[in-house]
Amino acid sequence: MKILVIGSGGREHALAWKLSQSSRVKKIFIAPGNAGTADHGENVPIKADEIEKLKRFALKEGMDLTIVGPELPLSLGIVGAFEGVGLKIFGPSKEAAAIETSKVFSKEFMARHNIPAAGFRKFTDPEEAKSYAGTLEARDIPLVVKADGLAGGKGVFVCNSMDEAFLAINLMMKEKIFGEAGNCVILEEFLTGEEASFIAITDGKTVIPLATTQDHKPIYDGDKGPNTGGMGAYSPAPVVTEEVEEEIMNAIILPAVKAMGDEDRPYKGFLYAGVMIKDGKPKALEFNCRLGDPEAQALLMRLKSDLSRVISAAADGRLDEIELDWDERSSVCVVMASEGYPEGYEKGKEIRGLDGVAGTEDVMVFHAGTKREDGRIITDGGRVLGVTGLGNGIKEAIEKTYRAVEKISWEGAYYRKDIGVKALRKESP
Ligand code: AMP
Ligand code: GLY
Repeated sequence: MKILVIGSGGREHALAWKLSQSSRVKKIFIAPGNAGTADHGENVPIKADEIEKLKRFALKEGMDLTIVGPELPLSLGIVGAFEGVGLKIFGPSKEAAAIETSKVFSKEFMARHNIPAAGFRKFTDPEEAKSYAGTLEARDIPLVVKADGLAGGKGVFVCNSMDEAFLAINLMMKEKIFGEAGNCVILEEFLTGEEASFIAITDGKTVIPLATTQDHKPIYDGDKGPNTGGMGAYSPAPVVTEEVEEEIMNAIILPAVKAMGDEDRPYKGFLYAGVMIKDGKPKALEFNCRLGDPEAQALLMRLKSDLSRVISAAADGRLDEIELDWDERSSVCVVMASEGYPEGYEKGKEIRGLDGVAGTEDVMVFHAGTKREDGRIITDGGRVLGVTGLGNGIKEAIEKTYRAVEKISWEGAYYRKDIGVKALRKESP
């Protein structure tokens, strides 16, 4: 079969790599892809938000299946556009993607269906938001301020004082630093505990959880500094015990999939719940309508099943025929980023040492912001590489992964040194 993967991050490289292992898959296209995806298929110079061009390309090539990586094309209605012309595509419709693309929809949806989550208020007027914040007490600090729409993972401010909250409200609602997403903001209760990413695949009827995983959102070690798209991940995540997993499925994931169907927004795709776990009790922080990045890299490294078979079945509504098979070993993905990320950074630095890592057993270097130029591979984004390793237990996975990371360099390369440490502490406290 011919498969089109849409996106250009580490998640999409991992998808293309995994799909390329299937004997059923004859050709993979990645639009637009990166220097790494080109090793597993053909990069197509169409951006992920160019829905009409993508559709025409898929029709011309007679694509058997399209898999959408990021949220942007989903939010633009790529699934309806493809299905409207009879193309098979895996991901939620624009209406179903609202579970991620509108924080207000998502928060009100969770409240309507008694999905455990942080308490919140929504505001469309900055003065009302500030006067409400002004009535809060010291115990309501930190206060979480969220913009309504997509803001590249940056639309959430955890405010440690009322002044910070006022500033966040002004930046979002008056200065519109996230554009239209600031027309409506949410003020939300701060949840404490340990965060995990819980991802399931569904065809709208059957729901299968993927292996457990945990991201590292802040830029610096010890979870300090501003949030990023994700600086590393590992799987399994010991914080998600069997009991916690059951609770997340029963209280969050299954009710969400059912309720989306009941609300006439049938959900098909990967459904990702960001959860906060305290004393074994999970609460939903957010939903995403896609696989996480870098969670996907850590997960796909452990997936033994044929991904093309799994996704084809889900796209056809036959997910009940599928069982997922996971490598018992642990995986760790360390994201190497450009100096300055998640703020400004330079591009175009030559990446060295990739050849020294290529072929290392149980290690994969998934590319994100990279491109090939004059035979060299250069940096082309904030998150550049996701070095991912498998090991017997988290300790070995960490060691193997960092050994590979240390062989790779470019001017200004930055990575966290503590990916996986939380899991390690749980394994051997
Ligand atoms: P979101 O996009 O809503 O997941 O927010 C991004 C990140 O901000 C989350 O992964 C959490 O680390 C943090 N965050 C969001 N909402 C809350 C909350 N209510 N309490 C604590 N942390 C939060
Ligand atoms: N790693 C977090 C996300 O993909 O949203």
